[in-house]
Amino acid sequence: DIVASGKALYVGISSYGPELTAEAMEFMEDEGCPLLIHQPSYSILNRWIERPGEDGESLLDVTARSGLGVIGFGPLAQGMLTDRYIDGIPADSRAAKNKTLEKDWLNEENLSMIRSLNDIAGKRGQSLAQMAISWVLRDQGDRTLSSALLGASSVEQLEHNLGALDKLDFSADELAAIDDAAHDAGINRWAGATASRVRGN
Ligand SMILES: NC(=O)c1ccc[n+]([C@@H]2O[C@H](COP(=O)([O-])OP(=O)(O)OC[C@H]3O[C@@H](n4cnc5c(N)ncnc54)[C@H](OP(=O)(O)O)[C@@H]3O)[C@@H](O)[C@H]2O)c1
Repeated sequence: DIVASGKALYVGISSYGPELTAEAMEFMEDEGCPLLIHQPSYSILNRWIERPGEDGESLLDVTARSGLGVIGFGPLAQGMLTDRYIDGIPADSRAAKNKTLEKDWLNEENLSMIRSLNDIAGKRGQSLAQMAISWVLRDQGDRTLSSALLGASSVEQLEHNLGALDKLDFSADELAAIDDAAHDAGINRWAGATASRVRGN
């Protein structure tokens, strides 16, 4: 209705899993409504869009075969994939304010992954924040993301983060080192929305 009435030119969806995304695309095509983009959470510590769903296809499989754009939100894992928490929790940080970053996520196992990733970033000549953004935007062939949607609490953070664009390429060894150093950290707070088929969730 929004597109038909001219209030928007196209629509996007967010956090839909692979099966529901495929279903939504079919539905929108039948309706003649352009569905152009999917906005899922995605970071080195939150890789659900790479994993196969119930039908054997991952979200990235579905978007790649159908040409749907993907803009990954939260590439910094709400700030975990920066140097902010390596030596504790700063008072002005999101974890201190407990907004979308739960202190429990900064457990020893996750901090150990963050420190290892920080070392890998240093060897690449990047900060951890910059490497985390570059990783989300890395070349994955037809599964490469369209864009990354990141947050910043200061202009300095934003300007620093834009430096990621200077080094988007990764060697196979660097990608393997990142995979060895880190895995899903149990921080996908939007998993419930992905699992649910209830409107409004
Ligand atoms: N579709 C959806 O369901 C959905 C859900 C959530 C978010 N989003 C969208 O995604 C956007 C990004 O989400 P997000 O802000 O949670 O993602 P994020 O980019 O993973 O985290 C951003 C946070 O990381 C910290 N940070 C950023 N740059 C830094 C740097 N250079 N050094 C140190 N710390 C740095 C800041 O935390 P501090 O505040 O601690 O400085 C900043 O607020 C949101 O604005 C929203 O539009 C969409």
